[in-house]
Amino acid sequence: MRKILLEHAKKGDVVGRNLYSSNGNILLSAGIRLTDKYIEKLQELGVDDIYIKDGVSKDIFIEDAIKEETLINVRKNMAEEMDKIKLSRTEDAYISMKLIGNIMEYILENKDVVVNLADIRSTNEYTFTHSVNVCVLSLVLGLSLGYDRQRLLELGTGALLHDIGKNFIPNDIINKLSPLTPEEYELVKTHTSRGYEVLRENKNIPELSSYVALAHHERYDGTGYPLGKRGEDIHEYARIVSIADVFDAITSKRPYKMKENPSRAVDYLISMESRQFDEQLLSKFLESIAVYPIGSKVKLSDGSLGLVISENREMPTRPIVRIIYDRKGNRMNMGEMVDLMKHPTMFIKEDMEQVV
Ligand SMILES: [Fe+2]
Repeated sequence: MRKILLEHAKKGDVVGRNLYSSNGNILLSAGIRLTDKYIEKLQELGVDDIYIKDGVSKDIFIEDAIKEETLINVRKNMAEEMDKIKLSRTEDAYISMKLIGNIMEYILENKDVVVNLADIRSTNEYTFTHSVNVCVLSLVLGLSLGYDRQRLLELGTGALLHDIGKNFIPNDIINKLSPLTPEEYELVKTHTSRGYEVLRENKNIPELSSYVALAHHERYDGTGYPLGKRGEDIHEYARIVSIADVFDAITSKRPYKMKENPSRAVDYLISMESRQFDEQLLSKFLESIAVYPIGSKVKLSDGSLGLVISENREMPTRPIVRIIYDRKGNRMNMGEMVDLMKHPTMFIKEDMEQVV
């Protein structure tokens, strides 16, 4: 089996391994012979390369089976996360999504990454899903900072494996419903240095990616762990991953807590802004994510219902809303426009799209 560029594939070539779409569905099964139509379809879908079996490569076997399921799950979670986060600036969003997808695919070409990811997945499914989410969110921020491919790869690899040290913490502590005892908390904190040690043993994991595992719980104001570093002494990758990590933790459902709307996560991050997170990175992050995308239905604090018609880049939790039902429940045809920036006492009480 060997990998070739799709443009070099020709009718009659035998597909060497299953080819999956971004949401984990099989596009073509291993063993199928390519036709012109298949090749054309794959080109339309933006597939760049394909594994084929032929005479020259018949002795080459690419070890894939054990890790394949993990890869499918990464793609599935990645698609779900991208669906969920709704990037702002809709015209750029599609390009960003495609770029993030490409970078993720490239990260997954690294055998060391996939092996470690499969370990995370077999130990704790939540940590695995969380890791993929944090990777997508970190790449969103990296892209908006204008990172080149190399830096996106280092950042993404670190984000994907940031919690690998949790493999050493018993699952009953990770999933515990009640608050942790001081001893348990101390143990959980060791996942940073344990993760760093594990990753350093992998020669194909960049040093700065391993560092993300060590430093993703450091805080800008010096209150984090394990070293209590502060400000720019914490590498930017770790400062990015710390924001993505907290954002995803708040917006995910856990055994001990309900999932919150992204707006709650934003409120939390902003309230911690000057203390725990890098202010500039945080505002870039909040600019990239549409908390209330245009068209979402929201309930305001006075009881009226409205549609978001314009986002507010400086304050994503205070968009401009057109009222569609007033506070008494009367349907409005051309309702009043409320700019929440100009009405400080009013706020969005519920996001009607996201509350389930
Ligand atoms: Fe962590």
